[in-house]
Amino acid sequence: MKNIFKTNDERIDSEHEKIFTLNRKLENQINSNSEKELKEVVKEIMNHVLFHFEDEEAHMILLDVDKEYFNRHQKEHQKIRTTCQNLVNGIKRTEIEDLQLEVNRIMIDIKAHILNFDLEIKKYVS
Ligand SMILES: [Fe+2]
Ligand SMILES: [Fe+2]
Repeated sequence: MKNIFKTNDERIDSEHEKIFTLNRKLENQINSNSEKELKEVVKEIMNHVLFHFEDEEAHMILLDVDKEYFNRHQKEHQKIRTTCQNLVNGIKRTEIEDLQLEVNRIMIDIKAHILNFDLEIKKYVS
């Protein structure tokens, strides 16, 4: 993971790192694995993102972040959560090419989210 994405919070950074690693795994397997196997990797990415949002919110409470920031941040998680959940719900009916496009879009949203919201956590990390 590039340094620009680092919050300097070990727990959050390692969860972000795993999102990037799983996405690389999908990209590396896209031409070699079966549709069923690829869908498993997509589900693994989405489940990890959903887990991460929960954990990051819990962690922000522990860090005692500003309430206004927490609410604003959580609202943004909610938008991406809905996209991830819709993708998982429809995964059986979705072609792998379309899934790949949708995962790419989600990755763009996640990267922007890290830069625009998660990095603010830096302020609270001692
Ligand atoms: Fe976040
Ligand atoms: Fe995050």
